[in-house]
Amino acid sequence: MLSLDAGTLGPAALQNYLQYAVAPRPICFASTIDAAGNVNLSPFSFFNLFGTNPPVCVFSPARRVRDNTIKHTLENVLEVAECVINIVDYAMVQQTSLASTEYARGVNEFVKAGFTMLPSDVVTPPRVAEAPVQLECLVTQVLPLGENNGAGNLVIAEIKRIHIREEILDNEGKIDQAKIDLVARLGGDWYCRITADNLFKVPKPLTTMGIGVDALPAAARTSHVLTGNDLGLLGNLAKIPDDETIEAMARREEVKDILDATIGDPANRERELHELARIYLQGGQAEEALKVVLLAAI
Ligand SMILES: Cc1cc2nc3c(=O)[nH]c(=O)nc-3n(C[C@H](O)[C@H](O)[C@H](O)COP(=O)(O)O)c2cc1C
Repeated sequence: MLSLDAGTLGPAALQNYLQYAVAPRPICFASTIDAAGNVNLSPFSFFNLFGTNPPVCVFSPARRVRDNTIKHTLENVLEVAECVINIVDYAMVQQTSLASTEYARGVNEFVKAGFTMLPSDVVTPPRVAEAPVQLECLVTQVLPLGENNGAGNLVIAEIKRIHIREEILDNEGKIDQAKIDLVARLGGDWYCRITADNLFKVPKPLTTMGIGVDALPAAARTSHVLTGNDLGLLGNLAKIPDDETIEAMARREEVKDILDATIGDPANRERELHELARIYLQGGQAEEALKVVLLAAI
């Protein structure tokens, strides 16, 4: 494993390692305005949601690594403590990247990147009409994280009004994760797109508390067949089945076949039972899988 002391790396090397590893990052497409009324639009992937009551987002226009200058967005929110955080979808990504060009102060990136300004309801900066979600925010605090090249500036923005394009809603009026077509930033020039085929669900841990991986037999925990994801699913089950239930499992045809074929061959028996447990897990039958794993340990 490559282990590095952050203090010994220059800002460019740090930026490279960290932006590739801390990824994907959502993109805040921030619309701001200066005291003279000049509009600015810039993307920031040092961005996330930090609370919902009050609803708060934070993003960071950092000091330029190149020459330690500060960004117009930061200057603007210090002059007019408002912003609109526009959410970026795939259809907008090339123009969003164009809007990150370092145009001179006062140049409106809505115009340069070809986006449409939509008046906001409660703040002065306009919204990006093309964005699927637009968050009108008041900037409550700006926290500098340092003074050297690459230092962040946390812009803490409280969301006051939310606009959502109706086409991305499901039948219950909630955002459909597959329809919003989000993009996110990774390291260098890499981006990713969230599409229906790369979405998956992880069930929340049981509120009643799962048995935990430590409750599984040692052979399961050190298995060469079962993966960490498999152990996570097994550890999330509510209880260890009783002996009678495990014995009943031994009479199931596919289990019995393995037991009969591996008499006197414990290593292969364990491996084949673990493989069968994986098949159950992949089919969503975690309880059956646990019974097989326990049987393998008898
Ligand atoms: C997708 C994307 C994400 C970016 N994220 C950040 C970021 O989090 N922080 C930052 O300082 N610059 C970031 N940049 C670069 C800024 O957008 C760029 O410096 C921009 O010119 C700043 O504009 P301004 O000076 O008008 O505020 C990003 C650029 C792109 C394309």
